[in-house]
Amino acid sequence: MGDFATRVVQWQQTHGRNDLPWQNTRDPYRVWLSEIMLQQTQVATVKDYFARFLAQCPDVNSLAAASLDEVLGLWSGLGYYSRARNLHRCAQDVMHLHGGRFPEDAQTLQTLPGIGRSTAAAIASLCFSERVAILDANVKRVVTRVQGFDADVAVAANARALWEVATALLPATKQASQDMARYTQGMMDLGATVCTARKPLCAQCPVQQLCAAAKSDDPTRYPVRSRKLKRSSQAIWMLWAQSPTGEVWLARRPTPGVWAGLYCLALFDSELALRKALPPSALEHLQCEPAFIHVLTHKDLHLHACRVLLTSKSLLGDGRWVSAEEWPGLGLPAPIRKLLGRTEN
Ligand code: ADE
Ligand code: SF4
Repeated sequence: MGDFATRVVQWQQTHGRNDLPWQNTRDPYRVWLSEIMLQQTQVATVKDYFARFLAQCPDVNSLAAASLDEVLGLWSGLGYYSRARNLHRCAQDVMHLHGGRFPEDAQTLQTLPGIGRSTAAAIASLCFSERVAILDANVKRVVTRVQGFDADVAVAANARALWEVATALLPATKQASQDMARYTQGMMDLGATVCTARKPLCAQCPVQQLCAAAKSDDPTRYPVRSRKLKRSSQAIWMLWAQSPTGEVWLARRPTPGVWAGLYCLALFDSELALRKALPPSALEHLQCEPAFIHVLTHKDLHLHACRVLLTSKSLLGDGRWVSAEEWPGLGLPAPIRKLLGRTEN
């Protein structure tokens, strides 16, 4: 449907977002970095992290040469840390398997760590004008609504069919070299600013006349998704031990698992298990606070901070004493960083 793509491209030019920090460049390093950050994090947050990350690692060479700890430190607070580990591995693969240059087609990009089909297509279309469809959550919404695609997208065969539908909507082949970058950005912008999840602004939408959902009484019934994510919750007791000289006991989290690879307070499944890790003389000074809730993708964590000031630098199992000067530079989960930074003592 050439008409559809043309409308998206024209609308993007006048109504889309055109001054984000990762736009107005065809540098695949910058586009890749921004796309990975934007996978699960909002634009406003990504802006700050993107600038700081680029200042430390301005190109794929410097990122590949950085240590994983440096990368996790730069990522600290963005969440979903497997993204940071894959980012680091991807930079090393680009250096060692691709001669220091990002591959220029979606199919090869997709072989790199952390780059799925949609991210590969975003990079290839934005940087190299390849005629390939993206299908992130925002674009899925636009495509299913426009086409009235009412099959359950949680079923693999339907998800596959939706890729075909998205591909059929792309700019015509002869237009691709000119329009693909703007089309991809336009689909993202449409999903983020007009065809929103709860209250789509159909009256302001450039494709309203072509949209099946706009003719129905409730556009928000698309996309149809039957399988619901089951959420669970878990209670965790965190040992917040401080030495007489102000060091804090930190241990690196195992991989895989919650906060894999990050530095963290020692974690326990119960207050009893935590108490067993302490020297008996310390127990009377232990103070466990009421839980606060930290939300992960599939799980709510109920976190209890159990604070204790030790009289000597005893060893408390896996981990080490880390000074107040050192810990802020380590990769720490956001809630732990916040806790350790609390000013009242
Ligand atoms: N989300 C994912 N990619 C994006 C981009 N290039 N611009 C704005 N939001 C996005
Ligand atoms: Fe979404 Fe409405 Fe535009 Fe259709 S007309 S794409 S439902 S905003």
